[in-house]
Amino acid sequence: MSTEPIVGAASWHIHPEAQALTRHLARAIVRMADAAITARGAFHLVLAGGNTPRAVYAALVSRGRRWDAWHLYHGDERCLPPQNPQRNSRMAESVWLQHVPIPRAQIHDIPAEMGAEAAAATYATILPPQRFDLVLLGIGEDGHTASLFPGQQWGLDPTTPAVLAVHNAPKAPAERVSLSAWRLQQSREIFFIAAGSGKRDALAAWRRGEEIPAARVGVGATVWLDAAAWPET
Ligand code: 6PG
Repeated sequence: MSTEPIVGAASWHIHPEAQALTRHLARAIVRMADAAITARGAFHLVLAGGNTPRAVYAALVSRGRRWDAWHLYHGDERCLPPQNPQRNSRMAESVWLQHVPIPRAQIHDIPAEMGAEAAAATYATILPPQRFDLVLLGIGEDGHTASLFPGQQWGLDPTTPAVLAVHNAPKAPAERVSLSAWRLQQSREIFFIAAGSGKRDALAAWRRGEEIPAARVGVGATVWLDAAAWPET
């Protein structure tokens, strides 16, 4: 792993390939969980959606511990039925959560099946009052993160709702629910995960200081990426 200097108000951890990225990131998440549980008795973690975190979640099955103290939330969700394999909650369940004893009451899925508006209003009442310990986020080719898309509302201002209903999203499905930018930033740490050459342009835009959702949410974040996604090779 090589660490690049802070650019775009983020630090960049580059791994030679996706497997190394997965291993190091899973280890870092477990280290943070242990520290939070020892210090405060609980670990409040926000999960990233999409495909990139899938391998990391699977790697946590054998590496994680003290599962009774993990509390999980989602950064965003797609307005699809709960059993739909395209749901971010289904992905996490299938590769990780069904294999570990995290108490069900501490796994907070976004009720996106209710429709974006109702689900957003409901989820805002479920979020903890305190800041998260760790927020995991992906990044899209257009620089979006969670379901905060260029040209749409990002919820940077703390007077905006903590959870946003998202309509006409440019990435299917069009109806989504997303934590707002300010609520995602209410975290002790923020980790972005990016793998593959498809993410190069978005990461290059971030490093150039362009106004993209990932960069605005990612102030002070750590970006975990593989060499294929690194825009400066
Ligand atoms: C979603 C995600 C979204 C995702 C990026 C990257 O529900 O679609 O939360 O923000 O993280 O689009 O997706 P991939 O990891 O699949 O490239």
